[in-house]
Amino acid sequence: METFIKTGEPSVIEEGAKIIKAGGIVGIPTETVYGLGADATNEKAVASVFTAKGRPQDNPLICHISSIDELDKIAYDDTGIAKYLFSIFSPGPLTLVLKKKDLVPDSVTAGLDTVAVRIPNHKTALEFIKKCGVPIAAPSANTSGRPSPTTAQDVYEDLQGKLPLIIDGGECGVGIESTVLDVSGEIPVILRPGMITAEDLLQHVDNVQLFRGRVLSAAPAPGMKYRHYAPNCDMVLSDSKEQTLSLYNNALENGKKPIILARSKNVDGYAEKNYIDMGFTDEEIAKNLYSALRKAEKISDYIISETVDDNGAGYSVMNRMRKAAGVK
Ligand code: TXA
Ligand code: MG
Repeated sequence: METFIKTGEPSVIEEGAKIIKAGGIVGIPTETVYGLGADATNEKAVASVFTAKGRPQDNPLICHISSIDELDKIAYDDTGIAKYLFSIFSPGPLTLVLKKKDLVPDSVTAGLDTVAVRIPNHKTALEFIKKCGVPIAAPSANTSGRPSPTTAQDVYEDLQGKLPLIIDGGECGVGIESTVLDVSGEIPVILRPGMITAEDLLQHVDNVQLFRGRVLSAAPAPGMKYRHYAPNCDMVLSDSKEQTLSLYNNALENGKKPIILARSKNVDGYAEKNYIDMGFTDEEIAKNLYSALRKAEKISDYIISETVDDNGAGYSVMNRMRKAAGVK
């Protein structure tokens, strides 16, 4: 199958919607990362998403909807907490886990009685979902285990030949995946940290629990037990400029081609070195992280990534950075 990248104008959105209605899969932009979309109500279409990504069957997908009004078709929100939180944070990078309704097949939820729902903050994505007229099940559009794609080209790199169309909506503004919040129990639990932080949520709900337990097969977010976001080469973390320089020099002595994913505040010390400037703020670093990993693995064989403070948005960045480096 030939894969086309086309910009998200109305005729292309129409073409994508036709593919979805016929049970096919389409690469779509969102504000976080690109998704690999299928009709969430069509078991066969959902199965081909798992096949294209090489995704384990027990890792459920997020259902994307275009407005709060569509929530009641797929999930129960007896307490109203989902509609309340969506009214504040959506469209945006917040995914809510709720008790599912029968319209959602077991293959989407990996047999769980809950479903993850999100309203992405991206014009093209919203128009596309509306045109499809069904909830769109979409994981990140990378090969399972690889860094998530933040451009249409990244999707092409991983999945060319496995889907007919990637809708190009430009570079993703957020760059890391949505916060996943389980609101199906008494206390909301953050299953995956993201740009909407516990601090943000605590402005609106009384309690939020962080999920930090050891990751076993019974992990609440089934995807958390798998290796994620991994580049094709070795990667280590560095907490300071001094550590970075010493790791860099050691790597050179060992015949490696190191590269630094550098915080902007440190780069003036790296003039003679190979580095990618990641930005000053946690938000900038989040936005650049996956594209930097994909770029670095092509020109180097040893990535030294400078860490950020482990709180607020930095907590979500460090969650991805540690996993990419294979830190348990
Ligand atoms: O930003 C995002 O969320 C992107 C864009 C495309 O929307 N999507 C994304 O999907 O990151 P994916 O499939 O790569 O990650 C979904 C995460 C996984 O960790 C999965 O285990 C968890 O959400 N998840 C999905 N359904 C769940 C459920 N019913 N209960 C608990 N966790 C669930
Ligand atoms: Mg993913």
